Amino acid sequence: MHIETIAIHAANHTDESSKAVIHPLVMSTTFERDADGGYHKDFSYGRADNPNRRLLENVLTQLENGAAAAAFSSGNAAGMTIFQSLKPGTHIIAPDDMYHGLRNQLKNLFADILEFDFIDINNTDIFKSYIKPNTGLIWVETPSNPLLKLTDIVQTVRIAQQQQIRVVCDNTFASPMGQQPLQLGADMVMHSTTKYLGGHSDLTGGALITAREDAWWEKIIQIQQTGGAVPSPADCYWLARSIKTLPYRMRGHVSNALLLAQHLETLPQVERVLYPGLPSHPQHEMAAKQMLNFGGMLSFCVKGGADAARKVANSVRLFTQATSLGGVESLIEHRASIEGPDTKTPQNLLRVSVGLEHIDDLIADIQQALSAIPV
Ligand SMILES: Cc1ncc(COP(=O)(O)O)c(C=O)c1O
Repeated sequence: MHIETIAIHAANHTDESSKAVIHPLVMSTTFERDADGGYHKDFSYGRADNPNRRLLENVLTQLENGAAAAAFSSGNAAGMTIFQSLKPGTHIIAPDDMYHGLRNQLKNLFADILEFDFIDINNTDIFKSYIKPNTGLIWVETPSNPLLKLTDIVQTVRIAQQQQIRVVCDNTFASPMGQQPLQLGADMVMHSTTKYLGGHSDLTGGALITAREDAWWEKIIQIQQTGGAVPSPADCYWLARSIKTLPYRMRGHVSNALLLAQHLETLPQVERVLYPGLPSHPQHEMAAKQMLNFGGMLSFCVKGGADAARKVANSVRLFTQATSLGGVESLIEHRASIEGPDTKTPQNLLRVSVGLEHIDDLIADIQQALSAIPV
């Protein structure tokens, strides 16, 4: 079946008792035992599983072409579950521009438990030189946040597999519509479902999708069920509802992002535009090969440094100056201010989550905000 059909049907079935066409929200935290002491459809207690979560995990599995999925209360909880599942002393190789929330998690919460290096994974020589006997995980985030740098998933997997190292890909920026990491050989996919999957900036969630239901996955499920960083049934209901329109929303995000990126490149106040869909992106060819589309995120650098960039972010009227991404409304932010003093993000960079407003209105707004910058 095609992804549009999966998105609509894989988290839904007609309710047996009422014949309601939409699967109901089941808030119950506990489930009646059968006479023989077992459980109907294995539902026992809300933290362990519930009907809405099971349906959500089913659609997530199918969207990423995986074997199983686990839903969490946030993207960071999903990421932390991976780190918690590793044997103490395991070495992780992660990108030097890894999402700062997960980088800080490793640095602040796992410093005495795991080893890690943040490097340029695409430089094969550097990457190979960092592999150690205890390296157990390569973390990939592509396109990256906020530099929109790409990692070659196939090449990374090839090197990792030679040493029996697992590869996890944070697929938040691309969404399952833009990239299929499991098909490219990754072992697991991570999502902040707060972003494109949720799509409306009104719920927080995370997910892991695995290529195989092996012993590592069993451990992940154990952490999910006993650790308890799970989404509520209502969160699962709303997320499953949002996913139904994901394929169509993504088409709009991608089309608007390309048109906005192309327009920004023509403006004299703009130093450079970072968007994988532009031929000027240094990894444009890799993006065309690896991705199914070029995504809805872009960044651009303003001439005149941090002050000029902040002035633009303060002058937009339609874009909202806010963090996060993937909602129907367009957002803009001065990323270095969010990431703190150890950021590698250029001070004149603005990150844009391109929404589903009419492209002419978005272009007009950015243009009026940039017009205040002297050239
Ligand atoms: C690429 C990426 N990964 C993970 C996360 C963490 O997700 P959450 O905010 O849902 O915990 C984010 C959040 O911004 C993100 O952008």
